[in-house]
Amino acid sequence: MTLSPDLIRKSVAEAHTRCAAISGGTNASYIPYLASVPSNLFGLAVVTVDGQVYESGDARYRFAIESISKVFTLALVTELIGPEAVREKVGADPTGLPFNSVMALELHGGKPLSPLVNAGAIATASLVPGDTADACWAKILDAQSRFAGHAIELSNEVNTSEQTTNFHNRAIAWLLYSAGTCYSDPMRAVDVYTRQCSTLITAVDLATMGATLASGGINPTTKQRVIAAKNVPHILAEMTMEGLYTASGDWAYTVGLPGKSGVGGGILAVAPGHLAIAAFSPPLDSAGNSVRGQQAAGHVAAALGLNLYGVPGS
Ligand code: DON
Repeated sequence: MTLSPDLIRKSVAEAHTRCAAISGGTNASYIPYLASVPSNLFGLAVVTVDGQVYESGDARYRFAIESISKVFTLALVTELIGPEAVREKVGADPTGLPFNSVMALELHGGKPLSPLVNAGAIATASLVPGDTADACWAKILDAQSRFAGHAIELSNEVNTSEQTTNFHNRAIAWLLYSAGTCYSDPMRAVDVYTRQCSTLITAVDLATMGATLASGGINPTTKQRVIAAKNVPHILAEMTMEGLYTASGDWAYTVGLPGKSGVGGGILAVAPGHLAIAAFSPPLDSAGNSVRGQQAAGHVAAALGLNLYGVPGS
């Protein structure tokens, strides 16, 4: 299937116009920085596997990556230790519970199940090799940058806001540690995890990061291989199962693409072999997913006939 540039351009413009009118949801408030981001910002971008960029609205506004970072640390760790070790040490199943659930951990003997919930993401961060937090962090920042195709930066403002309020995540890290599923010093793992959530990206960056997965691991802008093609399906499967937390099933049912959201208001959808769609709009629903972002990404996917479960030609 070839998607014409005109069709993609039209779908992006239409999705932005239609979804700009959607209200509802509220900014995340448990991280002070996120509460202060203007709620009316709304950006949408598509990047194709051959590097074409389509955008609308605030697609160049830099926002906090938050939980979407979990995908790229997972990709890094999968490259380093292999998909089977990730499955054994972290897991590959949805939890059915909120992204920061302690109960999910307790129910499963301390195994996080998914690298895309906070517990699993902290466990994944603890698997990044390095003698110090700074050494681990350098590898994660480098991975985010290679996916985006340029140097991604930590926001000191976001990081400080998170590091001074992340008590719940610290509790999760100690629970992991006591169950044997935190593979470094737990406070170091939370420190590194918190930094990875505190980088700034645009919707265009995010769509490029997703298009790197859509292309089987090659960044469409730099043409550099970022992750082995054989590892990509594991990442996309994790996104399908837990990318939108307790709404992951609804998202698969209605949109049919691997996705990932963040409490900063970003959302990513990946159409393997074709493109990635990224949206940014801060107000979230009760599951922690961008209200407008889900609608906009879903609109583009439907307009382009991109549904992983669709039968070609039907
Ligand atoms: O750990 C946290 O709570 C945040 N730094 C990230 C959470 C997040 O983005 C969940 N996503 N919807």
